[in-house]
Formats: sequence, structure tokens, C-alpha cells
Amino acid sequence: MRMYDLIYTKKLGGALSPEEVAFWVQGAAAGTLPDEQSAALLMAICWRGMTTEETLALTLAMRDSGKRLDLSSVPGLKVDKHSTGGVGDKTTLILGPIVAACGVACPMFSGRGLGHTGGTVDKFAAIPGLKVELSEAEFLRSLAETKFANSAQTDDIAPADKKLYALRDVTATVESIPLITASIMSKKLAGGADALVLDVKCGPTAFMKTLEDATALAQSMVAVGQAHGMQMRALITRMDAPLGWAIGNALEVMECVEILRGEHGDTELAQMSFRLAAEMLVMGGAATTLEGAQARVQVSIKDGSALATLRRFVALNGGDAASLDDFSRLPQAGQIIAVRADRAGFVAAIDGRALGILAMDLGAGRRDRNDILDLGVGIRVRAQVGQQVAAGDIIYEIHAKAGATPPLAAYQATLTWSDAALTQAPWLLATLT
Ligand code: URA
Repeated sequence: MRMYDLIYTKKLGGALSPEEVAFWVQGAAAGTLPDEQSAALLMAICWRGMTTEETLALTLAMRDSGKRLDLSSVPGLKVDKHSTGGVGDKTTLILGPIVAACGVACPMFSGRGLGHTGGTVDKFAAIPGLKVELSEAEFLRSLAETKFANSAQTDDIAPADKKLYALRDVTATVESIPLITASIMSKKLAGGADALVLDVKCGPTAFMKTLEDATALAQSMVAVGQAHGMQMRALITRMDAPLGWAIGNALEVMECVEILRGEHGDTELAQMSFRLAAEMLVMGGAATTLEGAQARVQVSIKDGSALATLRRFVALNGGDAASLDDFSRLPQAGQIIAVRADRAGFVAAIDGRALGILAMDLGAGRRDRNDILDLGVGIRVRAQVGQQVAAGDIIYEIHAKAGATPPLAAYQATLTWSDAALTQAPWLLATLT
């Protein structure tokens, strides 16, 4: 088999056989194929796409490039969640403890942030002492004892994806439905859960800008998961403004704890987290209807069991559980700077991507993979889309390093104003099973 022939076939829009796909993935992972040939094939896939069969073959080949986790020692169905990511997206920290508290085991592997979006691993890392890279034994112990486990993705899970993702990152080939599907689903299948709920983000700051593309990505991932016997559901959710009031790692932990305490229950972040958790409870067999599952979610908030589960997970994995009740124990910023509205009006839009970049510049995110984060810095978003604001009202609080001078005009420029009141589109755009 020659890599040249595979590239040529795909350049002309042909389909690759499962053997050809496996040849490529194995060669790329082993380093026996030159990067330029993998890069050329990736670009051809971006333009020509892949059939469902090819996407399945790619997912399997990437899954089988590494280790597969065996979760069978933990009883019951294991239910995972994946979000395609957005600024301020912190649903894992909320729904993981809720689902676990309601009796369904929730094993999750998460990523570190890069660029304008944060990563769940970094948010957990803001809890002092919490071990965010668990060994397999620690992961299984956490799942068995608290029904919740979250760890950074280990290098031995789908190593072919790591290699190909790094190439995609530098060759503008990330935004391809079959490549995203195979990348995400290979890791999810290797992770060993029985069921997966997807939160596919749609909007100007997401990978998928239109409902049509987001639906196609969701359908592609659902088809691949189901073909491998995984129970699948997908929600397509709007992504434009930041999700919730916090951007930045320790601030995001605070916001999640507040929601688990029962605060901010009517916000989009809470509603989205509760809905995803309810879907997971139905998939995990803890409820037969979505309504029943939603009621259970509310009980876990009201009786404190969801927050208690988070405390137990943190303590078991070396973290300072007291920091969840006393936020002064979490990393703090050196100074807080208020940004005030320079006019009166209604907030028509908030540019989440721009705020994500501003937060990264503060030190909350990584420009480069090797950057060290400042876990205490970030942005508290005070203005909400649709809100009426008077000139001089605080729209953002910047939590910055001591002595930093953030560009206030750039913060002002993230808001789009309207003179008239407007209605916000719903956060849930579509559901797929
Ligand atoms: N996240 C992944 O893990 N892979 C992609 O291709 C895109 C987002």
C-alpha cells in the first residue's frame, strides 16, 4: 500500500477502504509515514469529506491505536458527556456531581485549554491539591467510591488522534466533520462508557457556525457511537456569549459551586447543565422520563447531595474540599478592575471569543501549549445579553495580576448595543437521539 495512492484517491473524491484508513492511522501514529503525506490527506479529507463507513473506520483505527479502559469493575451503566466547547463552558463540574449523586456512574476524561477556550482540566486544577491526572487505578477508585471520575486524557488513549490533531492544528484542517467525529469518538469509545450525551455548540464562536453544520456533526457522532453499541443522545446548543458569569479557572469553580448550592438556577448555564444531567440519568437508567430525571436533578441540588459528591470527589483525589465552602482558599487575582458601560442601552450581543482571548491574555488560558496558567485571574461578566444597562454600570470585573493594565477599550468593544429591548434566542436549538 502506498500513501501516495490514498492521497490521490481522496483528492479525486474517492472513498478509502478500512484497510487503507488503518494503514494511514497506524503509520501516522508510529511515525513511519512522513507528516507531509498525512497533512495532504487531512486537507483532501477536509475538502472531499468521508463516507459514514470511512468515518467509522477512521474512528476505530484511532481508538485501536492505544489503550481501551475497562470499567466493568464498577457496577451499572457508565454515562459520559462531551461538549464541543465554548468560552465559560463549565457544565462538567456541575453535571458530573449531580449525575453521580443521583446514582449513575459518570467517568470523564477532559482536556486542557488552548487558545480562547478553557479546558475542564484547568478548571479542576484551580482546586488546591486536586490531582487532575489520575492513574487508571485512581480513576477506577474515584468512580467506584464517588461515582464520579475526571482526569486529564492520558497519552495512551488514542495516541493517533494526538498525532493527527497536532498536524490539523497547524494545517487549518480542524474544522472537518469526519475528522472531528473520529477525533472525539475514538477517545470516547476508548474511555469505556456505555452511553454518551453530546453538547454540540453552534454559533459564531463555535466550530460549527450554522444549525445545519452542527446537526451534521451531531448526526455523524451519534451514528459512529451507535454503530459501536454506545447509547447516544445529542443536544445542539447556542454558543455566542460566554456561558455563565465566570471566565477563568478559579472563578469558574466558584460559579459551579454556587449553582450546586442552588444559586443562579434560572441561568442558561444552570439550565443547560441540569438538562444534560437529566439526559444522562435517563440513559443511565435512573429515570424513565426526562421530566422524572429533571425532578431528581433538582432534589440533588436542594438536599445538597450533588455538592457533597463534589466535596467527596475532591477530597478523595487529594484536593482541598474546604475550598468549595471557603472561596478565599482558591487562587485569587492580585487586583480587580471594574469596566463600566460607556453608554446606556440594551446588550444585544457579547463577543465570547473576544472575551476568551482577553482572558487568555490575563493568564487564564494558553496561547501556546506550554504556557503556565494563572489560575486566579479571569473575568466576571456582569452584563447579560438582553439586559438594560445604564451608562456607568459595571459590565465586567477584570481579575488580573497585580500591576497588569488590561486594555479596557477592548473590553468595551466586546458588547454590541441596541436602543430597543430584544428577545434572546433559546439556548437549546435542537435535540437528536
Ligand atoms: N475536540 C477534539 O478532541 N477533536 C477535534 O477534532 C475537535 C475538538
